Amino acid sequence: MIKTTDLVKMFTTEEVETTALNSVNINVERGEFVSIMGPSGCGKSTLLSILGLLDSPSSGSYEFLGEEVSNYSERERADYRKQHLGFIFQSFNLIDDLSVYDNVELPLVYREVPKSQRRAQVGAILEQMGIAHRRNHYPQQLSGGQQQRVAVARALVSDPDVILADEPTGNLDSAHGEEVMGLLKQLNAQGSTIVMVTHSASYAKYGNRTIYLFDGSVVDKPTNGNGELPKTPQPEEENYEKQPSTEVR
Ligand SMILES: Nc1ncnc2c1ncn2[C@@H]1O[C@H](COP(=O)(O)OP(=O)(O)OP(=O)(O)O)[C@@H](O)[C@H]1O
Ligand SMILES: [Mg+2]
Repeated sequence: MIKTTDLVKMFTTEEVETTALNSVNINVERGEFVSIMGPSGCGKSTLLSILGLLDSPSSGSYEFLGEEVSNYSERERADYRKQHLGFIFQSFNLIDDLSVYDNVELPLVYREVPKSQRRAQVGAILEQMGIAHRRNHYPQQLSGGQQQRVAVARALVSDPDVILADEPTGNLDSAHGEEVMGLLKQLNAQGSTIVMVTHSASYAKYGNRTIYLFDGSVVDKPTNGNGELPKTPQPEEENYEKQPSTEVR
């Protein structure tokens, strides 16, 4: 369903060139729940935005639903996003001028779902997320946890083929975090494919497997169990001094 081959993403700003993704090969089958972990700056969000067709790679191949999409135009990507993808970001990206109900309804409007059906689907997901009583509020009138739940409702209302989540519990207390994770688990059991970035090893375990990124590359499972690689041992101190300064957290 999701397959990348030698995926590379370079960012160029003024004189600095960053290789955010360096030949990433991943494969996600339909129905999987995959967690992505790795230290800050290792390329997780970059990978997620390419998988979510928000950005295109510098080189390499990305097959989504069996189609090569790496060279899609912005317009084609937008169409594909609306048809197949649901996003949950850490910063909720709710539209301030729209009520809770209207925010959650938006993906269904994009898909031209008839109004009566929209009403039923939005009502059901708001109930499920425990925010139906706030349906006429605006985002600014909600707590952080409530906003996050609206964002989750919006990502899920259209029953997308793939849900991409970038630290979906980042702004939640542990009770609401567990609630969102439980919901993702439930959606996965109902057939949604999920790719989730998280810094939490315990949330990562909700997935079937974890992909570890480090400096833009996929690496084997780290041994220290918290999703970060231990500092690489350097054979000679002298060589170590000559390395470009890489901050390993
Ligand atoms: N638009 C951009 N322009 C230039 N550099 C960028 C851009 N977006 C990301 N980068 C760089 O690419 C690298 C990967 O960034 P990315 O946001 O993917 O990291 P991350 O793993 O999601 O980190 P975090 O855990 O802190 O969210 C970083 O070095 C970052 O500075
Ligand atoms: Mg990130």
